[in-house]
Amino acid sequence: MFTVAFAQPQTGELFTKSWRFHLGDVKDGQNSKFDDSQWRLINLPHDWSIEGLAQFDTSETEAPEFNIVKGEWKFNKGDNLLWKDPGLNDISWQIVKLPSTWEEHSNYTPDNVYGWYRCGLTVPADLKGKDIVISVGKIDDADETYFNGVKVGGMGSFPPNYITAWDLLRHYKVPHEIIKYGEINTIAVRVFDGIMGGGIYNDGEKVIEGPFDSTCPGGSGAGYINAGIGWYRKEFALPENIQDKRVFIIFDGVYMNSDVWINGVHLGNRPYGYSSFQYELTPHLKFGQDKNVLAVRVEVQQPCSRWYSGAGIYRNVRLNIKEPVHIAPWGIMITTPEVSESEATVRVETKIQNQSGSVVPVKLETVIEDETGRRVAKRSSVFQEIKADSIGIFEQFIKVAKPRLWSLENPTLYCVESKILVQNNSVDACKTLFGIRTFEFTTDKGFFLNGKHVDIKGVCQHHDLGCLGSAINKRAIERQLEILKSFGCNAIRTSHNPPAPELLDLCDHMGFLVMDEAFDEWIRNKTMFGYGSFFNQWSERDLRDMIHRDRNHPSIILWSIGNEIPEQNNADAYEMSKRLVDICHAEDPTRPVTSGCNTPEAAIQSGFSKPLDLFGINYSMPFYQTLKGKAKLIATETASAVSTRGEYNLVQEGDTLVIKKELNNQCASYDMTTPSWGSTAEATLKAVKSAPWVAGEFVWTGFDYIGEPSPFAWPSVSSYFGIVDLCGFPKDRYYLYQSQWTTKPMVHILPHWNWQGFEGKEIPVWCYSNCESVELFLNEKSLGEKIFRDTEDLHLAWQVPYAPGTLKAIAKNNGLTVCTDIVQTAGLAAKIRLTPDRAEISADGKDLSYVKVEIVDQEGRVCPNANHLVKFVIKGAGAIAGVDNGNPTSHEHFKASERRAFHGLCLVVIQSQENSGEIKLEATTDGLKNAVVTLKSL
Ligand code: GAL
Repeated sequence: MFTVAFAQPQTGELFTKSWRFHLGDVKDGQNSKFDDSQWRLINLPHDWSIEGLAQFDTSETEAPEFNIVKGEWKFNKGDNLLWKDPGLNDISWQIVKLPSTWEEHSNYTPDNVYGWYRCGLTVPADLKGKDIVISVGKIDDADETYFNGVKVGGMGSFPPNYITAWDLLRHYKVPHEIIKYGEINTIAVRVFDGIMGGGIYNDGEKVIEGPFDSTCPGGSGAGYINAGIGWYRKEFALPENIQDKRVFIIFDGVYMNSDVWINGVHLGNRPYGYSSFQYELTPHLKFGQDKNVLAVRVEVQQPCSRWYSGAGIYRNVRLNIKEPVHIAPWGIMITTPEVSESEATVRVETKIQNQSGSVVPVKLETVIEDETGRRVAKRSSVFQEIKADSIGIFEQFIKVAKPRLWSLENPTLYCVESKILVQNNSVDACKTLFGIRTFEFTTDKGFFLNGKHVDIKGVCQHHDLGCLGSAINKRAIERQLEILKSFGCNAIRTSHNPPAPELLDLCDHMGFLVMDEAFDEWIRNKTMFGYGSFFNQWSERDLRDMIHRDRNHPSIILWSIGNEIPEQNNADAYEMSKRLVDICHAEDPTRPVTSGCNTPEAAIQSGFSKPLDLFGINYSMPFYQTLKGKAKLIATETASAVSTRGEYNLVQEGDTLVIKKELNNQCASYDMTTPSWGSTAEATLKAVKSAPWVAGEFVWTGFDYIGEPSPFAWPSVSSYFGIVDLCGFPKDRYYLYQSQWTTKPMVHILPHWNWQGFEGKEIPVWCYSNCESVELFLNEKSLGEKIFRDTEDLHLAWQVPYAPGTLKAIAKNNGLTVCTDIVQTAGLAAKIRLTPDRAEISADGKDLSYVKVEIVDQEGRVCPNANHLVKFVIKGAGAIAGVDNGNPTSHEHFKASERRAFHGLCLVVIQSQENSGEIKLEATTDGLKNAVVTLKSL
């Protein structure tokens, strides 16, 4: 791990220990005197959502509820508003059983179509005079619901402003005035289907398992994990001798809609859960014996996100105590306007805030050190007067001779040390890391870093850390980046929001390029309580803050003003996008601005794309050609290929085995399944390769994430898009990318070789390799050599009649063997194997060791079908931070001391405590030999 050093000075102390937390709303929680002694004591960062304790109560209304979904309905294709009328003769309509999609009950398969459902409901006479609630289940995509001809509800929105609400439960209140008691009432539901399934497909039955709730208002997007409202409070004392200082509290991010109070005084509200912000506490503080109370209320009204957001103060918090004259927040901006081999010019802009109440002459001393700590340049300003209550700006140009450039292979960082002097006393100082590099996007040849062509081999990443939820942990992010690097990934898109600052620091240090993205929606919401409602008031502030915070990171090469913004189609799209691009340019003239356009044609026609420096294409691969030479291009989002680690979905049909793309809510790990807008990893890699004028791609996604389990819904809860699963275990697609993105010889065989029952049947065997050819052997017998030159495919394929034993792939270059891979039929499960990624961790209460848990046979071969429930006992200086197995349909708790293996593997994440010592982890499961591993926390 790196020592703390940031691309924006973070001079404050971490303020993350001993907070009190309460799930649910309280009255007067902001008041100093409020009794929080019963609240849970926690340390930040904290995500209460992942703990699975939040409950969503659907019974908040007094009115009796009728779930009308299950049973017989009438259905008709098409659209006619007269069909809402109770008197309509619907005798010719088809009788269907719900819940069921209309593809299933009527083979109604086109997209962008309407259909209507009608049914009768007898409301008991004894309810006379009472309102009722009807539950119409989940409807794909948008609906309008009529009761006796009167509209009582609707979710989503019909074209032309189509918005899906496919995953939301419909509870509609019906006023007593329109109800016929003791008689049959007519309910008519008008449904519009955008893409994929359509109709009333789910009755909204409540199932709660682990942290998952089938009726969670966040729906599949949130991974069916509830959020709600939470309160945090922290009591703290400050010494008398700092009374004349200025005190600030800095939040790296609170999800979402936070309100903060100090000693009962409201400091502010911040809706966007991904923005960093700070408040000054000074005028409201007490010193000495008197305690201060900081209170934070967090409100996560779901649905507010298309992916798992988490809930709470999920990033770091700092308390910053400053002299009245100090470097302003995010007050240092470093650019390198001239870079050559012999010399670089570094421009340092330093904003100094004078809160002393009088004019102060201030001097700024700036030193640049190289990565070894050697001073390479120094500049001192003359004394400059800064007026009371204002900010003085210092601009310095400093030369660095023979600069070592920041690159992906050698991410060399320099450090600016800033010192502020008032009457020759140092009043503030900080260190800011930066890199010296040049880059350029071109229209015809893609991307260049320091004059050298670089293919952007990127992935999109959401911010959750699997079983740790969204609570940020630097080692967890570092491990993610290590895994991504291991298959050749060199770039991250922070989809679709500003990331934790730690991610950017790690990218600077580890050599990743970053596309830093601001928003997933503007005014037109993608989810009911999403950012759209805050956009008008907050977008300028949120965007400026993101750039102020992030612009010193050498890893960042692109700002994105948004992902698949629905306003791409708007008449005022040009003005809207220009406003945001102008903000980016004003705050950072050194980086281009893009946006991920999923409807490139509309984006061009509406003018949306005109202000962009770089056209970001999401999917829409034909546009790589269409836009060739017309704009600088980047494939901001690609593939969306879906697969489950270890699932091959081989099914016998007649005499042969077929691969089912989808089976039992799992997607085959042969790269063949995609949503309608996506493409296989292989097809995408080929398309990007054949368009070298496109700077590269950002694959959707590097890691699986919680939520958005497309193409499924409940019981699936996490995504299938990852190149690696939610644990970080490689799927087969990992090796495809490795074969295309790295040069160290590798070969990988799929599937596993345990196909008892399929003896003699032909199994499709694929190999990924970056070598010229692969020869495949079954039990020492050659099945032939295949050469990549002979095929358009990025894999080699054999049909291999199954016999247990050893499948071996020998990969060759120039006829010489350079690497091999072996898959063997595993015997019966015999024991557990534990393999920690790190045997020593630091005793800082944060560091992690990820222990891979494998169910293996006597010979140590992983049993690919093993699903044993493994129990963990931990002793010594560590604790279990989370468990997982990468199964997107698992409903087990992430915070637990047991986990079922999934295709032979599961994961336990161990976190150090603040005392050093040994950590002993024991894993047991019925009938198998247990395993023990000992780690050191130092
Ligand atoms: C894209 C979208 C992503 C994700 C993906 C799934 O259109 O930008 O956020 O939803 O689809 O395929």
